[in-house]
Amino acid sequence: MSMNLVTLLYLVASVCFIQALKGLSHPTTSIRGNLFGMAGMAIAVLTTAALIVELASDKGVGMTYVLAGLVVGGGAGSVMAQRVEMTKMPELVAFMHSMIGLAAVFIAVAAVAEPWAFQIVAHGQPIPLGNRLELFLGAAIGAITFSGSVIAFGKLSGKYKFRLFQGAPVVFKGQHLLNLVLGLATVGLGLVFMLTERWDAFFAMLALAFVMGVLIIIPIGGADMPVVVSMLNSYSGWAAAGIGFSLNNSMLIIAGSLVGSSGAILSYIMCKAMNRSFFNVILGGFGGDAAAAAAGGAVQRTAKSGSADDAAFILSQAETVVIVPGYGLAVARAQHAVKELAQKLTDKGITVKYAIHPVAGRMPGHMNVLLAEAEVPYDQVFEMEDINGEFGQADVAIVLGANDVVNPAALHKGSPIYGMPILEAYKAKTVIVNKRSMAAGYAGLDNELFYMDKTMMVFGDAKKVVEDIGKAVE
Ligand code: TAP
Repeated sequence: MSMNLVTLLYLVASVCFIQALKGLSHPTTSIRGNLFGMAGMAIAVLTTAALIVELASDKGVGMTYVLAGLVVGGGAGSVMAQRVEMTKMPELVAFMHSMIGLAAVFIAVAAVAEPWAFQIVAHGQPIPLGNRLELFLGAAIGAITFSGSVIAFGKLSGKYKFRLFQGAPVVFKGQHLLNLVLGLATVGLGLVFMLTERWDAFFAMLALAFVMGVLIIIPIGGADMPVVVSMLNSYSGWAAAGIGFSLNNSMLIIAGSLVGSSGAILSYIMCKAMNRSFFNVILGGFGGDAAAAAAGGAVQRTAKSGSADDAAFILSQAETVVIVPGYGLAVARAQHAVKELAQKLTDKGITVKYAIHPVAGRMPGHMNVLLAEAEVPYDQVFEMEDINGEFGQADVAIVLGANDVVNPAALHKGSPIYGMPILEAYKAKTVIVNKRSMAAGYAGLDNELFYMDKTMMVFGDAKKVVEDIGKAVE
């Protein structure tokens, strides 16, 4: 296989990745984007596999390793992707990032041990200073990504008793100082490795980076984990790009940079939608003391509740209805029932629109994906800035499994979510809220929308309630 052909195939794969990102930016083009991503990844993996076999001194053994990697990795990935529930997607992504981080560490260790096998230098020659810097950065970022992603995975899953895997932030005195000291020590050891090529400095640097990954993530509460996952996504990309420079592999550099920059942009968008600074998220504590205090200090109030039949009656009288989907809708997998209800209302001449908050649910675009799965027409789906002006004229806002994203507490100074932009459902003439109880949302806060005179709560699992409303509307 000539290097020109390899470069050409890598270029084609890179164009596919760019097209994938472009396609994924809108629901109407997202399937096309996914197909481009799959095609790009297939080209990149197969080209690299062919290259490894060609470079292997013993081609038969090289082929066996490549095939084993493809079968085991590809098989595990496809089984996991088929089994994962939509609400567990952030966990899966955290797990994948941990693997990318570990892969970067393994490649860096192998490249430091036998740089000539990676064609970095001729046999017996020292690794050039620039390559040592790239290997140090790739390995350190990879190690932080690995251990940080493992903690993020544990916190997101909520299944494990281990203290570090609990959703509540783990904070202790002098934590930030310890992180600073460890960070400086990691950089110092990396510099020693760069200047002397000493193995012990390299491994000590790696050990500190693994510890740092844990320490950076444990003070961050479960509520902020999606931002953290996106940040780790960005780290894993930069780790891959760093290693790509050492291996002189343009595919790794381009794909790593795309992942690194898109992850960073996504983290920024999420922080903006929650009106939090990136440092506020990283320094941690959110969802811990502040939210607990706010929830604990809540005054006992009573909310008005009604049945699915009552909700159906109110909806049938409306001219305009805005549906606000949230995390609970995803948990209940009620998207198909919602679409059917909306269809029945539309058939009665009622205008139905969906209002999407950028951080509704647990991952970016969560609600868009859910509604797309149910084939809700795109022209009924509106982003927050486009729909907020319409709540004032809406006869009914029906909030399905959403809480924080419609919480007017965001308008009050002193609230932990003060300044977070919300869907202004409270402005609608009547508000119907469906959830199972009066429990708080992800931020752990009481929601005054539930106690307003114009609000009627309909308790129960979203799927059952929406189906019942649909039957009653009929
Ligand atoms: P939440 O505030 O988490 O509220 C979801 C509500 O759904 C809960 O109050 C819960 O109440 C209800 N629920 C759960 N299961 C249900 C079911 N089967 N049927 C009916 N209701 C059910 O959700 P949200 O309004 O979508 O807000 C998202 C939160 O996640 C925000 O705080 C946001 O900042 C945070 N977050 C999101 C992201 C992304 S990228 N999406 C990233 C970081 C943080 P009950 O238990 O009483 O039923």
